[in-house]
Order: sequence, then C-alpha cells, then structure tokens
Amino acid sequence: MSAFVIHFVVRRFLAAMPTDAQRNLKTRKILFVLLLALICIVLVYAAFQRDKPWVVPEEVKKLKNPIVPTESTLKAARGIYTEECAQCHGEQGKGDGPKARLHFSAPADLTDTRRMHSVTDGEIFYQISEGRKPMPSFKKRLTEDQRWGLVLLVRSFSAPSAPPTVEKKPDAVTKTPAHATDP
Ligand code: HEC
Repeated sequence: MSAFVIHFVVRRFLAAMPTDAQRNLKTRKILFVLLLALICIVLVYAAFQRDKPWVVPEEVKKLKNPIVPTESTLKAARGIYTEECAQCHGEQGKGDGPKARLHFSAPADLTDTRRMHSVTDGEIFYQISEGRKPMPSFKKRLTEDQRWGLVLLVRSFSAPSAPPTVEKKPDAVTKTPAHATDP
C-alpha cells in the first residue's frame, strides 16, 4: 500500500518536472525578458545622460566675455565655426549639421531663445572649451579669444534679429533724424 503511494507520488513529481525541450523554451524566454530589460535600462540611461545639465563651476559661469562683438570678430568666429562646429551644429546653429544625425545625443538648437537665455556667456565658453561626448574639447585646439569669439557667434544665433551687421546701424540712425525733422 505505502509502496503504491510512493510510486504514485514519484510519478506525479516526474510528470511535473519539465522536459528538456520545455526547459529550453523557458531558458530562452527568461533570456529574452532579460535582454528586453537590458535594452530598456540602456535607453533610459542614455536619455538621462542626454538631459543631464552641464556642471559648470560657479566662477566660470560668471566670466565676462572680453571680446567685443564687431564685424571682424564675428567674421573670424564664423570662419572657425564653419570649419569646426557646423558639421554637427549646422550653419545656422539649428543642430542640423550633416554629422548631427550620426550622434546619439544630438546637439541642441542654438537658435532657441528660451534655452539660450538660460545660460551665461561663461557657461557657453565652458561648453565649447570642455566639450562633452560626442562633442570634442576645444581647449587645446582654439585660443581663449577664439573661444570667446565663438560665444559671441553662438549668441547671435538666438538674437531676435538676424546676426548683427554693423553697417545697418548708421543707416537706421541717419533715417530717424531725417523723419524727425520732416514736419
Ligand atoms: C562632433 C560634433 C560636434 C562638434 C564638432 C561640435 N559640437 Fe557642440 N555639441 C555637440 C553635441 C552632441 C552637443 C550636446 C552634448 C550634450 O548635451 O551632452 C553639443 C553641445 C554644444 C553646446 C551646448 C548647447 C547644447 O547643444 O547642449 C554649445 C554651446 C556647443 N556645443 C558649441 C559648439 C561649438 C562653438 C563648436 C565648434 C568650436 C562645437 N560645438 C563643435 C556636438 C558637436
């Protein structure tokens, strides 16, 4: 009688045990779920990386731009920009350079006024100097003055009017008095 019970229990137990094929399927399912989880973790991590604010030292944030925006400083900066930056940031700073799409963390739109109003000149200077993957550091490649010139140019991208051209101003100034003396 007890032998029969043991026999019955063992049979039930064996029946409940997974066969090799079942176990294989189970392993594969677990691996698949793990892989999915891993992909999710990587995506979430990358998203966080991307939105991570730049940590700029306070004293650098407060730096004032020693370069004055004139036609010649902007022109010099434009030359450097076209050569070193436009392939990623785009000619107008929209973040649409031909290389921008190759990078996972895309460059931001430098024409976005709200975004650019929230950073100081010192912060932009720091970003250009240090870089952050995939953007290279320009500390060694460009002089400080060249980098400050680029800060001016970057600022001009988000200026409400078109990039400042010095000739236009005297024009506007001479016109106003002419109108004022009209009557
Ligand atoms: C290889 C492509 C590449 C080049 C070349 C490059 N950048 Fe960037 N830049 C980026 C990317 C990508 C970011 C965003 C990085 C981040 O937020 O982690 C960035 C960020 C910036 C930022 C901060 C605003 C933002 O997009 O978050 C400024 C300002 C900037 N770059 C200016 C420049 C200037 C000026 C040059 C040329 C001297 C330059 N970059 C060259 C890819 C590049």
